[in-house]
Amino acid sequence: MFRKIILSAVSALALAGGAAQAAEGGAHVEDFSFSFEGPFGKYDKFQLQRGLQVFTEVCAACHGLRYVPIRTLADPGGPELPADQVRAFAASLDAVALPDGEERPREWTDHFPMRSGEGMGPDLSLMAKARAAFHGPYGSGINQLFRGTGGPEYIHALLTHFTEETKDEAGSTYYENPIFSTGWIAMPPPLSDGLVEYADGSPNDIEHMSEDVSAFLMWAAEPKMMDRKEAGFLGVTFLVVLSALLYLTNKKIWARVKGKEFVA
Ligand code: HEC
Repeated sequence: MFRKIILSAVSALALAGGAAQAAEGGAHVEDFSFSFEGPFGKYDKFQLQRGLQVFTEVCAACHGLRYVPIRTLADPGGPELPADQVRAFAASLDAVALPDGEERPREWTDHFPMRSGEGMGPDLSLMAKARAAFHGPYGSGINQLFRGTGGPEYIHALLTHFTEETKDEAGSTYYENPIFSTGWIAMPPPLSDGLVEYADGSPNDIEHMSEDVSAFLMWAAEPKMMDRKEAGFLGVTFLVVLSALLYLTNKKIWARVKGKEFVA
């Protein structure tokens, strides 16, 4: 009940500020209701699992996730894969190069591999936080509290806004994409309808795969979001109760001086 009142009050505020949003490149980034947005949002573990699958089968060819420890795939609040699956997954990734030139199989205590070299993209560990698309109202960023930062929305928009145009410049090919800051990106359109086969039979068109991989990248960048929100809510509740008690105490202490009878 209490939650509902707060939520409806704050969503009215958020709507009021909703008009003021801008993407990094100036193009419109569409808002999306991801399950993890808002003060009480939570990650949807099945969506994160699908996103992990898209990342592994498609994006990992060119992008690393070097800051994400593989073992966190089993953590509560994340994709919550069973520990034996996480170990098997780790072993299926690129081997770890040792200083003496040897290699060893990747363990679940290692991080995801990194990627570098010709044609490879930037590391995606923190990309969902680096590309906040919502800044309103009036640049204050307040509506990020209710609608999220717009980071996963940016990634979703980027993946779904390739036009068919390409151009060659200085020996590289660029693909037209109005969401990217310069309008031309060196990443070829990575997704096509039906590219990834989901075990749970979820829709696997470009739209849904982009949504799933964006949610996964948000988790990768902010794996403790749910704990943080819970701690925040508890902290605010505590402060509200404390303020009420202090107010009553103050009234009681001054009651005699002010010549009033204190009744409470
Ligand atoms: C064939 C290699 C390749 C694949 C596959 C690929 N990317 Fe990229 N990606 C790139 C390159 C190269 C860039 C850098 C583009 C540039 O700076 O012009 C990039 C850039 C990006 C960026 C950063 C855009 C920005 O604002 O700076 C994001 C986000 C991204 N890719 C997401 C993905 C996702 C998600 C997937 C999987 C669905 C994916 N990429 C698959 C090569 C790839």
